[in-house]
This record gives sequence, C-alpha cells and structure tokens, in this order.
Amino acid sequence: MIDERNYTRLRSIIRSRTGIDIVCYSRSFITRRLEFRMNACNIKDYDDYLRLLEHSDEVKVFTAHLSINVTEFFRDPDVFARFADLLKDYDNARIWSVGCASGEEPYTIAIIAKENGIRCSVLASDINRDAIERAKNGLYSFKSIRNVPKDTLARYFVMTDGGYLVRRDVKDMVTFEIRDVTGSMPTGSFDFIFCRNMLIYMDAQSKETIIGNICNALKRHGYLILGKSEYVNYPAVLSCIDNKTKIYRKSV
Ligand SMILES: C[S@@+](CC[C@H](N)C(=O)[O-])C[C@H]1O[C@@H](n2cnc3c(N)ncnc32)[C@H](O)[C@@H]1O
Repeated sequence: MIDERNYTRLRSIIRSRTGIDIVCYSRSFITRRLEFRMNACNIKDYDDYLRLLEHSDEVKVFTAHLSINVTEFFRDPDVFARFADLLKDYDNARIWSVGCASGEEPYTIAIIAKENGIRCSVLASDINRDAIERAKNGLYSFKSIRNVPKDTLARYFVMTDGGYLVRRDVKDMVTFEIRDVTGSMPTGSFDFIFCRNMLIYMDAQSKETIIGNICNALKRHGYLILGKSEYVNYPAVLSCIDNKTKIYRKSV
C-alpha cells in the first residue's frame, strides 16, 4: 500500500496538474491503479513514477485510469425494467445520472421515457472530460449496444460507418456536464438519481458525503438507484424498495 508521504505527494501533483482531488478514492484503489500504471511504464520505484507524473502527459493517462468508464446501454436490464415501471407514475420527470461515463446510461433512461410516452429531462454528469465528449457525440460500438432490443435500436439509433449514432430527439433530452460529485451539486431537485458503479471506488467518508449530497438533491419520495454491488445505510432517509435492483426511496 502507498505510504503517507508518497500519497500526499501524489495527491498534490494530481491536484495541481489536473484540478482533480483524489482524496475521495480508497487508498487500496489508488495503490492498485498506481501499480498498474508503473508496470505498464516499466517503473519499479514510486519516486520515479511520481516524477514522471509531475513532468509528462502520464498524468492524463493515470487520471483516465482512475475513472473507470466501463458502461453499456441497458446495463443490468432488470434495473431498467423496474425503473420503467416506476416512471409510469410521472408525467414529467427530472432525472440525474451521476457518473454517467460515455453516456450510455442517460441515453438508456431517455429512450425508456420515450418508449413509455413520458416527458423527462436528464442531467448527466461525470468528472472525466473525455468521457463527456464521447457522450455528447453519441456514437457507439456494437459492444455498447448489444443489450438494446432490436426494435428499440431501429427506432432510436442511426447506423453509420462509424457505429450506432443516437438520434437527435433522444440527444435533446439529455444535458451533459463535467462535474465532480464530491464538490458542488446541481440546482433544483430530482425525481430519480442514478448513481451506479461509482461509489465502489470511494472511501467510506466520501461515500457518506456523496450520499448526503444526493439525498439533498432528491425530491421527497424520489428514487435513488445504485449499482448492483453497492448499498447505503441511511434508514432515516432512504428505504430500500428492492434489494436486487438496489432501488431506494427517499422517505422524508
Ligand atoms: C464505472 S463508470 C459507471 C458508469 C454508469 N453509471 C454505469 O453504471 O454504467 C463510473 C464513472 O464514475 C465517474 N466518477 C468517478 N469519480 C467521480 C467523481 N468524483 N465525480 C463524478 N464522476 C466520477 C468515472 O469517471 C466513471 O465514468
């Protein structure tokens, strides 16, 4: 595990060169990522690697590896099936996809709303600038769309030489922005907040701060949807309505 001196130096280099504060990530996650990149660069010594981070574009590669952007359309289809049921109670829903990566999750939400004839606006945010650029382009490979039912694919995507392009009317429902969820929150409040597969990389204290912030941004009786291997323990405010799909409801 990285020691205190190297960790403090690493944190300060990343913050001064990229503006990202790594304090929210667990030490073991940071150590695993560091060792992965050191191996890739054939470097054995922390000091040598920190020097490289300080003076080269390796800092961009390292931070890109911190924000693991793995995602796909209709990831965990049973979660989206349950979401579609809950959404039917709304005429006009406001939804936030926190840690949206390259956009597959917020576009899936928009497609489901369209399929069910429900108006909705989706705010989609991520700390990773490149992921947000890819999301805005809305162009995806076959791997990303493999869970999309064939008829849905035909309705909401245009096939191009470069891949599957999300149609304009779906794109118009989603607003993308770069945002660090440990910092300031968006204005207004939301009926649904998706925060999936991001908290697993966070330390306990950051996780608690993020969940507190998210609870403030949820409307009364709004829903929080976590990743399948994630959970929160906040019984005074959030009750789990389905342990399999990790959907919570704000009770106050
Ligand atoms: C594994 S992806 C999850 C994508 C999508 N939510 C899903 O479940 O398919 C995790 C995303 O969280 C983002 N992330 C990590 N730390 C973040 C932070 N502090 N603020 C906002 N986004 C963050 C990463 O950049 C990454 O795109």
